Parts: sequence; C-alpha cells; structure tokens
Amino acid sequence: MLVTGKELLQDAHKNNYAVGAFNVNNMEIVQAIIEAAEEMNSPVILQASQGGLKYAGVEYIAALGKLAAEKTKVPVVLHLDHGTDFDQVMLCIRHGFSSVMIDGSKFDLNGNIAITNKVIEVAHAVGVSVEAELGKIGGTEDHITVDEKDAVFTDPNEAKRFVEETNVDSLAIAVGTAHGVYKGEPKLDFDRIKIIKEMLNMPLVLHGSSGVPDEAIKKAVSLGINKINIDTDLRIAFAKGIKEFLKKNPDNIDPRKILTPAKEAMKEAVKAKMTIFGSVGRA
Ligand code: G3H
Ligand code: ZN
Repeated sequence: MLVTGKELLQDAHKNNYAVGAFNVNNMEIVQAIIEAAEEMNSPVILQASQGGLKYAGVEYIAALGKLAAEKTKVPVVLHLDHGTDFDQVMLCIRHGFSSVMIDGSKFDLNGNIAITNKVIEVAHAVGVSVEAELGKIGGTEDHITVDEKDAVFTDPNEAKRFVEETNVDSLAIAVGTAHGVYKGEPKLDFDRIKIIKEMLNMPLVLHGSSGVPDEAIKKAVSLGINKINIDTDLRIAFAKGIKEFLKKNPDNIDPRKILTPAKEAMKEAVKAKMTIFGSVGRA
C-alpha cells in the first residue's frame, strides 16, 4: 500500500528504528526491493534520483512504484531523492509520488529555508511529505558532486532554526557519511546525531550509507536516524549477480536469465540492510 513519508517515518521515530530508502531505476530493481520487504514484513521506501528519472522517465518510475505499492500489503513510500529543481519536484508530485526531497544544501541557510518552504507549501497542501537537507554531504550521487573539502557537517542550532521555520517532515543531516564508494572507513559523528535528535525530536535521515560498517549504522539508528539511503551497495550486488552469471554462462543472451541472479543478489542485500536497520516485522 502506498503511504506518505511522514506516516512511515513518524512510526520509525516513535519506535526507534530506521526504514531503508533504496534507489530504483527499472522494474527488476523495484521487484527485488518489494520482494525483500514482503519477505521481511518490513516497510520500505522506493526512491528515484534525478539520474534515475532521466534514465527511466518519470512516467515509468511513477507507474512502477505505484503498481508495486498497490500490489503489496507492506507500506511503501514513493519518494523523490535529491530533488534540486522546483519544477521537477512538482512533476513528481503530479505523477503521484507520496514524498519528495528538496535538496537546497547548495544554498546558504536562508536560501535553503526559502526553497524548502516553496516546496512545502505545495506538497503539504496535497498531502505529500517533504525531506530537506542541511549541511553538505560529500561524494557523488549521480550528477551531484560535493568535494570532500566542501563537505560541511550539520550545525545543530542551524538545524533547529531550519525546522522551526519550515515545518519539514524529515531532515537529512551531514554527520560524516559520503555518497558512493568510500576510500577509507567513514567516521560518523555520533555525538552530533544525538544532539540534533534531542534538539529536534523528529525523523532524521542518513545519506551515503553504503559501505558504512553495520555496527556504525546500528549505533546511528539507536541515536535517532530513521531513514537510511542506500544506492551504491545495491548497485554492487546487482552488478556482481550479472558478472557471476555471465562468467559461468558467457554465451547466454537472454536478458531474463542474465537479470534474474542480479535481482536475487539485490534482494538478499536489501534483506540484510532491513535486518540491520531494525525495520523487520514493522510492516
Ligand atoms: O540519496 C541516496 C543515498 O544517499 C545513497 O548513497 O550510494 O552511498 O548508498 P550511497
Ligand atoms: Zn543522498
């Protein structure tokens, strides 16, 4: 069933667990994630980045996400990941997304508040939830790149002002993770998560969560992270499934045969993440 981001994340916030938000680009990926959610009886967030929308088209992504949500009993959110363009956010709302992210992190605090409020005014009027981002998360997510030297951790006082002035439903915070594959082991600022959670008392989002050790993720969840974005780790699982299959069957030309092990590998990766996040049995 399709639900809003607010509904899902408020439950996670109250009961101290996190919901996985997994990036989708095609039918096999949507199916892998939904099958994992059903097997784990877990709520789930299907999210499309701007790169994903460019690849598949907003109509296809929206149709796939809504169909998947309608066909399953587990709660599903269809979410726009890192929306940076007001018109595109509106397009996603028009196509039935139940949640959107407006990523105004490239602006200063006042600019970020302004663009977030512009989106919230429309989104909330039609029952769509909004995630914003404060601070700058390093690394590359599709075409958005933030150099390591430009990454900025979220300031708790700014976060408080941001939430008071926007009434945003969830907030992505920069606490030491980065998008993409890590060079070394990421060091999370757990104290910052704890302080921000205490000051804001609302659902918090962790981006760039692939490659973060399981124990660090569990600790972040115990301190108040309620939505965990995963893209890279699922790409790795999918690609590994294809490579292993083609290594064993170099002459196979059937996309169904080639993609089935990739889908299975991705499904297992999603199930493992759901277990770490504590969302199993929460559907
Ligand atoms: O918005 C999406 C995520 O933050 C994904 O990050 O590719 O490092 O898992 P990741
Ligand atoms: Zn992200």
